[in-house]
Amino acid sequence: MRAYDFPLFPEQASTMAPQVDYLYFFLIAISVVFSIAIAGALIGFAVKFRRTPENQVGHRIHGSTVLEVAWSIIPFGITMVIFGWGAWLFVAQSRPPDNAHEVFVVGKQWMWKLQHMEGRREINELHVPVGQAVKLTMTSEDVIHAFYVPAFRTKFDVLPGRYTTAWFNATKPGEYHLFCAEYCGTQHSGMIGKIVVMEPAAFQAWLSETPPILPMSGPVASAAAGDAGSLSPVAAGEALFAQKACITCHQPQGGALGPSLVGVYGSTVKLADGSTVTADDAYVRDSILNPTGKIVAGFQPVMPTFQGQLTEEQLMQLIQYIKSLKATPPAGAGVAQNPPAAADSAS
Ligand code: CUA
Repeated sequence: MRAYDFPLFPEQASTMAPQVDYLYFFLIAISVVFSIAIAGALIGFAVKFRRTPENQVGHRIHGSTVLEVAWSIIPFGITMVIFGWGAWLFVAQSRPPDNAHEVFVVGKQWMWKLQHMEGRREINELHVPVGQAVKLTMTSEDVIHAFYVPAFRTKFDVLPGRYTTAWFNATKPGEYHLFCAEYCGTQHSGMIGKIVVMEPAAFQAWLSETPPILPMSGPVASAAAGDAGSLSPVAAGEALFAQKACITCHQPQGGALGPSLVGVYGSTVKLADGSTVTADDAYVRDSILNPTGKIVAGFQPVMPTFQGQLTEEQLMQLIQYIKSLKATPPAGAGVAQNPPAAADSAS
């Protein structure tokens, strides 16, 4: 296909890309084999059983158990192979390795807003290092979008009110298309961007440099203007925690109206109704937006909702801050550990 400069497949630029293509080639091979077999049988039977003067009336045929079992078992086996292979790939693409570089993604009509764990923000562009896993935590401010990078074979839905996770490991420096792959309104087709894959050293330099102020206009400029500097999500979350007065009730040493949030993230929280819940992104988010939904054992449902008062980015920042509140206090800080019952809560 090179000769015509008309590539049938997008470039393979991530570790997962060849894996996805193997499955795709397998599907094509199966389709080709069956198409040839069916067309061949059709022609063969047409010739063999063509009408002749001796057999004006055909034979009556009764069922064949062997045939029926065969045409049930064989397709079942083939579809199970496709299912197992596809499920394995899906799970592999959904579970990022531990050492991944973290990026937070917010989709909104009609742009991609991205922020690196270290603080640098981008709009419709994502810079990543080559040869390192990049984990995306994604949500949407409005409708369903889908984060799609054909060269990486990465395509995941970005949903309002939920966090989805994807990851990739880019294998070649260069620039690659980023698309929205879910119809999301009139400018869906314009919700595009690029992934810039850089050498690790160049990426580190890029990550720590102060972003240039570009003369921009339109929605991208106003979105960029609304972002408070390049604080890391944890630092921005800490500032918000004070600004929104969360700190008044959620004091680190506990004993206030709300439970201490130190060490809560990742723990198992006991609720007032006797059930338990794991404090993950979804739980923390839910506790901020719908605080009376899941009351922590031993506390009153007194927290007001923050629905409509926080953007998706601010919610992510608060979650990252709460995640950073580790149970072990710094040596010599003299902060008493909370009893576990009081420590595990976010509401
Ligand atoms: Cu966002 Cu289509």
